[in-house]
Amino acid sequence: MSGFEYVDDELCCDHVSISRMATKIKTPFYLYSYDTLKKNYQSYVDAFATTNLSICYACKANSNLSILRALGEMGSGMDVLSHGELFRALKAGISPAKIVFNGNGKTREEMAYALQSGVFAFNVDSLNELFILNEVAMANNTVARIALRVNPDINPLTHPYVATGLAKSKFGIPIHETKDVYQTASTLENIKVVGIHSHIGSQLSKVELYLETLKKIMPLVKELRDIQIHLEFINLGGGIGIPYQEGESMPHPKDLSELISSLVKDYKLILEPGRSIVGTAGVLVARVLYIKHTHKKNFIVVDAGMNDLLRPSIYGAYHHAVLATKHIDTEEMMYDIVGPICEEGDFLARDRQMPKVKQGDLLVIKDAGAYGFSMSSNYNSRPRVSEVMGIDGNDYIIRERESYEDMICRESIPDILM
Ligand code: LLP
Repeated sequence: MSGFEYVDDELCCDHVSISRMATKIKTPFYLYSYDTLKKNYQSYVDAFATTNLSICYACKANSNLSILRALGEMGSGMDVLSHGELFRALKAGISPAKIVFNGNGKTREEMAYALQSGVFAFNVDSLNELFILNEVAMANNTVARIALRVNPDINPLTHPYVATGLAKSKFGIPIHETKDVYQTASTLENIKVVGIHSHIGSQLSKVELYLETLKKIMPLVKELRDIQIHLEFINLGGGIGIPYQEGESMPHPKDLSELISSLVKDYKLILEPGRSIVGTAGVLVARVLYIKHTHKKNFIVVDAGMNDLLRPSIYGAYHHAVLATKHIDTEEMMYDIVGPICEEGDFLARDRQMPKVKQGDLLVIKDAGAYGFSMSSNYNSRPRVSEVMGIDGNDYIIRERESYEDMICRESIPDILM
């Protein structure tokens, strides 16, 4: 038994009772299961055992150093999209030769840092960026290895905010323009064309979408070969969804490998999974502050808010909520779970039928390992919460809760205001 499971009515994370943890760690806090992380990572490795696959974990999903370190130890590379993410990946000991640099707005300074660090490749998002990268590489006396990010114009059937492969999306080079851009790239002195990249969206529920993408990309790869542009790798980005709702079914990496492995067999395949690696490996633990009944609703007011977990507020995302300690009485009620932030959009769950909850109970908001802490903020001057990892019967603080001093330490009051 490991991961998140009830033992004698107590929810445990890798054999440690969450209630017990909450006696010494101030709520709210994020809690990660090392075991689940490993299983999720391994599911990709096993599924693609016979494919030349490199996994570049998308560290935007969760960039805590211990998460990066743990995945690095398992063999993962990283997808980074900012100076800060590259800095973190290197600090966690990830070899730059396993790092791809993404993003549609890389600055010259970020390019220089990535070149000096020796990253594996840049995924270039526009012709304009390509020219700048060439200049920066020249100034640094080096050559930038690149893939072009292709926008294949595919509807990924996901939330509009994370649908990135549609023609109207800000990401990638329209597929019909890509051959020309490759030709231009191949003439630039400080650019070496090595691959092709596409990431059509996140929380994808169908692996057939990757097949659709490949059907658009592979003819282009062949055309490029015909004009002596030979690619080393095909990078299909991240995107495999996770089941947030109970009983929801989502594809497994095996489904993807069965569908696409034979099509990419002549190339190295790169995937950049984020959510499917870390999503189910994390929860947000919150304490019930108040129960409030109005004539319209029953509210559970917890000590975690939209600044801690933003996904419900901005995407209307569903996260399953459970009690850390199961109640014996089975009476159920319909609740909204809300935070202490001064906005009506500050909710973690709406209209949830669940066992009657009491003040002081611990609530566990599930599947919050991806885009949970990494999207958290200090809104309402609330310190960012601590992060904890359960590993084989022990719990480790992997990020301390911020102090109030931490929150103001970069601010100053000019003399004129004194
Ligand atoms: N590669 C690229 C270029 C990406 O932009 C992303 C995610 C990934 C890989 C990883 O995708 P994943 O495997 O995690 O689906 N904040 C949103 C998700 C934003 C995704 C951004 N890009 C959320 O909470 O749902």
